[in-house]
Amino acid sequence: MALLDIKLYGDPSLRRKASHVREVTPELRRLIGDMVETMYHQIGIGLAAPQVGIPYRLLVMDDGKGGARALINPIITGRGGSVVDEEGCLSLPGIFGDVERSKWISVQATDDDGKPIDFEAQGLLARVIQHEMDHLDGVLFIDHLSPVARDRIKKKIQKHGFPKERSSRAFAL
Ligand code: NI
Repeated sequence: MALLDIKLYGDPSLRRKASHVREVTPELRRLIGDMVETMYHQIGIGLAAPQVGIPYRLLVMDDGKGGARALINPIITGRGGSVVDEEGCLSLPGIFGDVERSKWISVQATDDDGKPIDFEAQGLLARVIQHEMDHLDGVLFIDHLSPVARDRIKKKIQKHGFPKERSSRAFAL
């Protein structure tokens, strides 16, 4: 296994729409293993393939039960409610903002054995999946903030780079 380089805000690979994965190959499984290792190394709880420069519809996440899970070609088939909470992102280190997300979602995907899966998620897991699925469409959490809040963050990054102090108040995705 190997640690992968995480692309930071400003890298064009974060703004592309990722492609459908056609087949779960040994290479893809190796990539999933590397993404999981990278996610935990960076103290993250979710990581999408475009964040490591791979343009595929693939994400990994912590399952909240001590394990990691991969979702391949995920789609949201149902959603409801709305909840606002603070988010961070491994591609925007040290930056946080309040983002509104659906409270619960129904998800269809393929797992790393190539089997179809279908489940409902709520709470933090639902937030992680929505954040990571945004990455597959080239969307970052700051795109959901008000234009004023987004401009403030962009200017701060342009002027000072990413904050050196890494806050532990929010999770990074
Ligand atoms: Ni992220």
